[in-house]
Amino acid sequence: MLHKPPLILAIESSCDDTAAAVIKGRKILSNCVANQEIHIAYGGVVPELASRAHQSKIVPVVQQALQKANIEKKDITAIAYTQGPGLLGSLLVGSAFAKSLALALDIPLIPINHMQGHLLVHFIEDDRIQTPYFPCLGVTVSGGHTQLVLLKNQFDMEILGTTLDDAIGEAFDKCGKRMGLPYPSGPQIDKLAKEGNPHRFSFPIPNLPGYNVSYSGVKTAVINFLANQEQKNSDFIQSNLNNLCASIQYTLVQIILKKISKVTQERKLSHIIVGGGVAANSEIRTQLQNMASKEGWTVSLPPFEYTTDNAAMIGIAAYYKLQEKSYGSLSDPSDARLKYGL
Ligand code: KG4
Ligand code: ZN
Repeated sequence: MLHKPPLILAIESSCDDTAAAVIKGRKILSNCVANQEIHIAYGGVVPELASRAHQSKIVPVVQQALQKANIEKKDITAIAYTQGPGLLGSLLVGSAFAKSLALALDIPLIPINHMQGHLLVHFIEDDRIQTPYFPCLGVTVSGGHTQLVLLKNQFDMEILGTTLDDAIGEAFDKCGKRMGLPYPSGPQIDKLAKEGNPHRFSFPIPNLPGYNVSYSGVKTAVINFLANQEQKNSDFIQSNLNNLCASIQYTLVQIILKKISKVTQERKLSHIIVGGGVAANSEIRTQLQNMASKEGWTVSLPPFEYTTDNAAMIGIAAYYKLQEKSYGSLSDPSDARLKYGL
């Protein structure tokens, strides 16, 4: 008898996006995200407000995902949710919801590591995505993380390098905030940079040994530079906004590109997959593609809807766990600093 492909309901609530998706086998049937506009007024995510917003959004988002996929709760094979890393209060809302529903429906529960999910989007069955081969280099660039990861299979992921302080997306957001741009400023900087000169202003690129990166130095350099310039000309930021965005973006992207070059050369890796919100950035996409044609690499960049936080990424990771019957239990704790592992 042929087994039908499993139908997984996936829930993601690690930060400030409440998301639900339905995946059938490796195909996404629905991928719904409710953004939390409340944080814009504060220029960054306020953890307590994020958990409250998840509580009010999770039921409608799950309903929307089921409706869009045209399935009912009784059709679901398993429920997947983000166990960590992330904001603890936010994670708890998703895990409590997922655990209750799995218990009520008496179906398996699958906890997922958010960072693994960001990379596993490349295994979604979709005409726009070419399934990766192993070993490959995973690059996770998001608001909370910046990592270089060696993938030997879907769950054998070894972190080769990481940020020692701020994440790349955090640096985009903090520089943007200082320039008066709304949160999250990464996409705004990307847009304004298109009209600017990336070499108009220069900021330091740290020279760290190994594969680790650091973003707090360049963030502080930008903030100090802006303060100095504003003392001479109070309109400095407004009158140089496009050039500032282009120069800051160029520097932030160069920092990670330098490490990608080093690790691919030293570890003899020629296939790179990129995940996380900053994978939507046009500079990183263009530069990686240019480097790929020069160096003979293949680079996979996810479709935009799978870059920033979404539940499809949790669904595809759960699909692979389901194949191995690797289930969780009601007593699994949410973990703000969850490490990689099966
Ligand atoms: O993966 P994500 O949605 O959340 C985390 O897991 O952190 O990433 C959000 C980050 C934010 O810092 C946001 O500014 C950044 O991704 N981002 C971008 C772009 N789109 C989103 N940064 C630069 N350029 C973009 N186009
Ligand atoms: Zn993320």
